[in-house]
Amino acid sequence: MGCGALKQLPAILSSFGSKIFIVTDPGVAQQPFFDLLQKNLHNHGFQTSIFQDVLPDPPVDVFETCAAQASEFKPSCFLGIGGGSALDVTKIVAVLEKHHCSLASLFGIDQVPGRGTPSVLISTTAGTGSEVTPIAVVSDEENQLKKGIVSDFLIANHAVVDPNLCTTLPAWPTAYTGMDALTHAIEAYTNRYSVPLIDGYAIEAIRLIARYLPTACHHGSDLAARYAMSRASMLGGMCLGSVNTAAVHALAYPLGGRFKVPHGVANSLLLPHVMEFNMPAVAERYQIVAEAMGRGDGDVVAAVDQLSAEVGTNRTMTEFGVTQDELPSMAADAMQVTRLLGNNPREMCEQDALAIYQAAL
Ligand SMILES: [Fe+2]
Repeated sequence: MGCGALKQLPAILSSFGSKIFIVTDPGVAQQPFFDLLQKNLHNHGFQTSIFQDVLPDPPVDVFETCAAQASEFKPSCFLGIGGGSALDVTKIVAVLEKHHCSLASLFGIDQVPGRGTPSVLISTTAGTGSEVTPIAVVSDEENQLKKGIVSDFLIANHAVVDPNLCTTLPAWPTAYTGMDALTHAIEAYTNRYSVPLIDGYAIEAIRLIARYLPTACHHGSDLAARYAMSRASMLGGMCLGSVNTAAVHALAYPLGGRFKVPHGVANSLLLPHVMEFNMPAVAERYQIVAEAMGRGDGDVVAAVDQLSAEVGTNRTMTEFGVTQDELPSMAADAMQVTRLLGNNPREMCEQDALAIYQAAL
């Protein structure tokens, strides 16, 4: 990790062989650095094949099309470049290409048969931390649900975090990806299964995000702010692998699946309401979160609200077309995400989820 870390890429890739399959999205593929990176790889003697059709919240067919293209190329290594979606596709396709299994067979926890073809991941946003997580999320469009795949076998061989790549990210995605990272850290720190080692990562991420996210949004070329956010995002990713998230992410799934609300926005608008709900169970920990956010009076919900307002993610579900009528079925869908709800520090039933959606409407 570091400004200029990308220069180490040829040396990293050379340990795996010379055939590199690059997975990215159309936005990244148009960036000047992407062209330079490819030329640099060719100058170092690498052969490349590119899949650049990753969509946000990638559906099943993106994974399958990418895997088919990769199987023809027979790469020695996968190189994922982008936000969480491109990195998630890379992690899964590396497994599909090696093990010739179906995508559906991987859904859930520990269903991946083994490590895939080697992979190197480069993040171009500061939020998901996907470059260091054992998790990928797939959109099941037929059932309007997002499904998780969790396995230690998904952890990449290398992650390259170069904050220079984030400087062109516009304010809005900077804001909501940053709020996603904040949610990872808060949900890990106040998790039913929190652990001391990860607590340190989480608190450091919370401190960095509260201090630097507004600058990263409003002064995108500020490298100190971008560095801090890249670091916070990576620390948030480390929290995901060891502890994972809880009810905010569970309740965010139906918003992403049905209404295409960007993942970070969904988290951002639910976070204060879930925190209010969780308050009786983790009041002391929230006090420490408030301190890390620089909120002297300990009002952690106000601290999150204020940050959200400062960076412009303080939206409502109504703005994304969610209506009162949808809420009961959304609450029922959220209850299906038991792998995350089970982590929540306070037990949440369907009525509780419905009340939280109502508050966030
Ligand atoms: Fe997230």
